[in-house]
Amino acid sequence: MKNTSASGKKRGHLYAFTAILSLCLIIALATLSSFSGAVDEHVAEKEESYSRDDLRRGQRLFKGLVAFESGIHDCSSCHYPSRTDTMNWNPSAHDLAMRWLQEDDYSIREKLAMPVGQRMITDHAGMSVTEREEHLIEAYLMEVARRGPGELRAIPVNAVIFWGLGILMALALVDLLITKKIRFKIFHVMILLVGLMVHMQYAVAESRNLGRTEGYAPDQPIKFSHQVHSGQHDIDCQYCHTISKFSPSAGIPSNNTCLNCHNVIREGSQSGRFEIDKMHRAEASGRPIEWIRIHKLPDHSVFSHAQHVGVGGIECQDCHGPVETMDILRQQEDLSMGWCLSCHRDSEVAFLDNPYYEPFERLHALIRAGELDAVTAAELGGEDCMSCHH
Ligand code: HEC
Ligand code: HEC
Ligand code: HEC
Ligand code: HEC
Ligand code: HEC
Ligand code: HEC
Repeated sequence: MKNTSASGKKRGHLYAFTAILSLCLIIALATLSSFSGAVDEHVAEKEESYSRDDLRRGQRLFKGLVAFESGIHDCSSCHYPSRTDTMNWNPSAHDLAMRWLQEDDYSIREKLAMPVGQRMITDHAGMSVTEREEHLIEAYLMEVARRGPGELRAIPVNAVIFWGLGILMALALVDLLITKKIRFKIFHVMILLVGLMVHMQYAVAESRNLGRTEGYAPDQPIKFSHQVHSGQHDIDCQYCHTISKFSPSAGIPSNNTCLNCHNVIREGSQSGRFEIDKMHRAEASGRPIEWIRIHKLPDHSVFSHAQHVGVGGIECQDCHGPVETMDILRQQEDLSMGWCLSCHRDSEVAFLDNPYYEPFERLHALIRAGELDAVTAAELGGEDCMSCHH
């Protein structure tokens, strides 16, 4: 009896183990397939005509390690294979790959042979590719498309400290309880205490930053630069963010607003035609440009541009920083409650000659009586929970 129940238990463990293992496998497969799902079916269709060897040769050509028939051309010195944190005005290798994949009869060879626009002519001077070379480059672009635009590479200092300390703490604990190699217990206690303190600090900082995106600067679908438009060419913020004076939201301009100018301006001095062409393709297909939202308060709090820009007369830059100097737009402030409140306490409003403030009779009376000489946003209700949370 005892024997069978023991082997039954063992079999039970085996089942549990197999179940967990297959669950892990399923999860891993699901993640993998959702990654490759990013590149559409189009790819799978084209993919079969390229071998591993084509890919290797294509990569060497593109990176200028071997010569094209027309000479050595390092395509990757302009068409970067990985992401950069400053604006790279040339199409990246990934941009080229997506462009090629999205259009059925797109030909790299023809683009180089029949250049349209100043940048295509000057930057590709003397470059031509044969049909075979085009095939090899396509094999490489296929790989680039599958890999995606890539992440910015940076040493994850915080992660290294966090996990390094974690391992050190585990070792100290093991030695304290089991191996007992180091005699002085104070040593273990110190490691555990310091480690715990640092970990707690990380946990607090992480949970406070949950949902906050200070410094967020994503790549946008078109390389739109505020520096070019509002810096260099002095276009007013409200030309594009038209509704910011009258509405809670500032609004992102529609493709038509862009085309007001770009029906005429067909080539940028830095990006050539590649980026501006995207607006015309969007117009032709009727598909809107999918700009990525940067500033976003959590749902439980409300903010109104009309209140600040329209009524309060505050400059965009007071909250968004020197936008007119940014090629890639970056969130300047943390948009925390503390940030809102401290400005409300410090901001005197032009109270007396603004019809919007006429209903505030109590404050007007105080001013007339000489008991108050300046009114801050906080005194107008800028500190009441209900004005921001409702
Ligand atoms: C020619 C049109 C145009 C002009 C002029 C312009 N913007 Fe923009 N703005 C855009 C577009 C398009 C986006 C979305 C892409 C991006 O984030 O770069 C944007 C995004 C933004 C965002 C971030 C929105 C988000 O998702 O959180 C802010 C803030 C902003 N603009 C502020 C300004 C300010 C301040 C000025 C004036 C100095 C200005 N803009 C002038 C077109 C314009
Ligand atoms: C009021 C006119 C105007 C509007 C509206 C406008 N642009 Fe421009 N844009 C310009 C000018 C001027 C240039 C500079 C052209 C040059 O480089 O000579 C430019 C350049 C560009 C460039 C190329 C930059 C470079 O240096 O290569 C891109 C990309 C661009 N705009 C995208 C957009 C997008 C997207 C919108 C809509 C959100 C937009 N523009 C709206 C006037 C405008
Ligand atoms: C000196 C920089 C430079 C080098 C080197 C270079 N390119 Fe380009 N390439 C550009 C720029 C800039 C554009 C965008 C021009 C435009 O759209 O007006 C571009 C655009 C392209 C386009 C897209 C055209 C379109 O509108 O769809 C293709 C394809 C291309 N390059 C292929 C290559 C290949 C292949 C090589 C290597 C043999 C190469 N390029 C080397 C700068 C370069
Ligand atoms: C008092 C601070 C403040 C001022 C002044 C301000 N903004 Fe904002 N802006 C914000 C906050 C906060 C958000 C996030 C709002 C949200 O998520 O509801 C935001 C969001 C945005 C957005 C993103 C999406 C949207 O439609 O709301 C744009 C674009 C923008 N601001 C542009 C501008 C422009 C242009 C001006 C000047 C005309 C301006 N802002 C003035 C604080 C400010
Ligand atoms: C740069 C300074 C500044 C910042 C930052 C700021 N505000 Fe304000 N806010 C003001 C001023 C000045 C007023 C008063 C002007 C007015 O009556 O609209 C005001 C008024 C308000 C009011 C109206 C108060 C009432 O009850 O009448 C609300 C609501 C508000 N702000 C919400 C916010 C929120 C939410 C944030 C943060 C996301 C924020 N503000 C950030 C300056 C600021
Ligand atoms: C001027 C606008 C403003 C006022 C007034 C205000 N809040 Fe907030 N509050 C915010 C904003 C914006 C956020 C979200 C940003 C963040 O993560 O801090 C927030 C977040 C919060 C949160 C969530 C905290 C978190 O970390 O997610 C709580 C709880 C809260 N507020 C409570 C209050 C209470 C209680 C009051 C009244 C004493 C109050 N708020 C007054 C703007 C305001």
